[in-house]
Amino acid sequence: MAQSTLFLVISIATIVVSAEPTLKFPPGFKFGAATSAYQIEGAWNVSDKGESIWDRFTHTLPDRVYNGHTGDIACDSYNQWKKDVQIAAELGLHHYRFSISWTRLLPSGTPNHICEDGIKYYNDLIDGLLEKGIEPMVTIYHWDLPQRLQDLGGWCNPLITDWFADFARIVFSIYADRVKWWITINEPLIICDFPFNTGQMAPGIIDPQIGSYLCTKHTLLAHAKAWRIYDEEFRPKFHGKVSIANQLLAYEETSPGDREPVELISQLSTGIYSHAIYSKEGGWPPIIEKLFAEKSKTKGYPRSRLPEFTKEEIELVRGTYDYYALNYYTARVVRFARPGEEAGPWPVFGSPELNIVANVLPEWKTTVADIFFIYPPGLRHLLSWLKKNYGDIQMFITENGYPSNGDEKLDDVERVQFTHDHLEQVLLSINEDDVDVIGYTAWSLIDNFEWPEGYRVKFGLYEVNFEDPERTRTKRKSAEYYQRVIEQHALIPIKQPYDEL
Ligand code: NOJ
Repeated sequence: MAQSTLFLVISIATIVVSAEPTLKFPPGFKFGAATSAYQIEGAWNVSDKGESIWDRFTHTLPDRVYNGHTGDIACDSYNQWKKDVQIAAELGLHHYRFSISWTRLLPSGTPNHICEDGIKYYNDLIDGLLEKGIEPMVTIYHWDLPQRLQDLGGWCNPLITDWFADFARIVFSIYADRVKWWITINEPLIICDFPFNTGQMAPGIIDPQIGSYLCTKHTLLAHAKAWRIYDEEFRPKFHGKVSIANQLLAYEETSPGDREPVELISQLSTGIYSHAIYSKEGGWPPIIEKLFAEKSKTKGYPRSRLPEFTKEEIELVRGTYDYYALNYYTARVVRFARPGEEAGPWPVFGSPELNIVANVLPEWKTTVADIFFIYPPGLRHLLSWLKKNYGDIQMFITENGYPSNGDEKLDDVERVQFTHDHLEQVLLSINEDDVDVIGYTAWSLIDNFEWPEGYRVKFGLYEVNFEDPERTRTKRKSAEYYQRVIEQHALIPIKQPYDEL
């Protein structure tokens, strides 16, 4: 073969090989799974554990939870945690995300009394994970506020920023020698916006006009105080990473090119919990701050319903991150409301504040949970939106999962498809959009208490038998699929039929 022909053949071969999309995840990319304390632990009143707002909510307002379900026993992980560690190891997880129950550690919410059994429970869990080579990722607050602090105003009382900071300092001082990945607060959108608009989550108070926005500001300040405590008192010794986890909805255009409502609602939903922390200038997203100030004035309020930050507060919050933690489940197409049309209620059907209507497209698959519609490209779009707005920050997907009613038993082919399709978008984001995504976390390791949906809605890679006192965990097909993804550190194409996995 003439030399030039040989050269041509080699060049074409190179092009063909490099044109193939790579299914490999970058070296060091982390795969994990998540749960949270109230959703799995049970043992709601063992030892001297205090009462949380979810204990109170499920016990006193049973009609707001499917079939009056409670987290009193849940998956009994307080007693069965070794099983959780075992299955996390079987999956080959790099990290396991779980949360600390505030009232298990501090029964009255304040640090004057620390519960020994609480300390031991999380010590055992953390050590058990580390023995199996699994990194613990700890959420300090996943919605189970001490009822005592709720009685004093909860997230609407400015003092909560210190109550939370005190709690965070205790948590760091006990566990930071072994835990390197931290999330201060899980999903302020679902702590402040969803409950205060619907009453469907603890504490069950409806106050969308004022309560919701006091809560928003206080979650940001509480996060920032905890981050700074870690930064000053613990980072020099332990070198961990701390962030806040945001639930992000992907907003898309209703008509091609109609970006204005998309940008506006993204700033209300994502920006309001991100701008203060991740932007260069800090504070509220300017467009949202202006709009609320104007609207509050015309409605006769003496000050903006979105409470202003002082200069000191802006500085306190600005830059308090080591990575961006995002939970992704669903998307909406948005547009401005037409005359006479109702916008909202916020946050899943639109925004009355912005006069924006949110819908879903008929081709997006529905699920058993009526607010979750499946749109995997939304994840990629969100990652790009974050990079465009806040720069080249490390992104960690701290939740993503598929809700079912459990009828599929172990043969959860739709969860397999969901996992595949979202991981595919993660790869596109990394390879095509150059976004620095460093990890993915499946929600959830096991079926668990899904808040107002009780045990009706299931997200587990492992099925839990809630009839059985042992709360047996059984591997689903999605767990087998995820295990192979982790083993091969690559997206595993799905063959049909799924049995061939
Ligand atoms: C987000 C929450 O963090 C988690 O607690 C919940 O179960 C899942 N989404 C699914 O709704």
